[in-house]
Amino acid sequence: MQLLDGKIVSQAVKDRLKVQTEERLEAGKKVPHLAAVLIGNNGASETYVGSKVRSCAEIGFKSTLIRLEESISEDELLYKLDELNADFDIDGILVQLPLPSHIAEEKVIERILASKDVDGFHPESVGRMVQGLPAYYPATPYGILLLLEHYNIETKGKHAVVIGRSNIVGRPISIMLSKPDYPGNCTVTVCHSQTKNLKELCLQGDIIIAALGRPEFLKADMVKDGAVVVDVGITRVPDASKKSGFSIKGDVDFEGVAPKCSYITPVPGGVGPMTIAALLMNTYKACVAKD
Ligand code: GUN
Repeated sequence: MQLLDGKIVSQAVKDRLKVQTEERLEAGKKVPHLAAVLIGNNGASETYVGSKVRSCAEIGFKSTLIRLEESISEDELLYKLDELNADFDIDGILVQLPLPSHIAEEKVIERILASKDVDGFHPESVGRMVQGLPAYYPATPYGILLLLEHYNIETKGKHAVVIGRSNIVGRPISIMLSKPDYPGNCTVTVCHSQTKNLKELCLQGDIIIAALGRPEFLKADMVKDGAVVVDVGITRVPDASKKSGFSIKGDVDFEGVAPKCSYITPVPGGVGPMTIAALLMNTYKACVAKD
């Protein structure tokens, strides 16, 4: 069993972007600039946005963090996005999800200019991705592809079983793994809450992407020997032994599943850091597109 180490691979991506950013600066070109919008005080969202902003600083990107009150109206948020859209210096905009319940997620996502949609959530980005056109890929599935690529994992003709059908992970990764390219060319099965024979389907998976958000859901008896297992879960579960009061659990029962795998991602330190690396790649691309 080999770990798919997202810390190492994301660092390699960031090192490369740092050099490219320095080269841009020396050539008198603008450096990438990410705007991150954080609404309210959701602890997990604070942590993720904090990591994104810190990563920008590490590699020489500019970043602007816009903190808004939980009570902000939908119109005020949309107006803020119009301002960011109109600001030439800003290359990429992300609004951290989830949003407060009085704000319609799809309206917010659609308001961001597709050319600045570094999260890859805009319907135009998704449509382009589905049609195999150049597009901003959503950060988490893109990060998974970068990880598979780094470890030269064979994907052609493999059966990939995706558990979860969210717009952020399950649905896009299922499309990306079936594209006629590397990493891709998989036969893909998408499983979800209404799937009847989930265990039998998982047992057929050469590659399993667990992205349903249920801690330690995938057990050893659901995984065949030699499978590649990618764990997208990051649920906070109460843990009195931790100073923070919680520990982070993936969707995979790592202890039980890992010995059966050829490759497996740890949680934390697997997909999480790759999501940030992919977001930075998209932001860099959005900047270069303006040259
Ligand atoms: N919430 C969970 N994952 C993501 C992500 O990739 N981007 C944003 N903006 N919000 C998220």
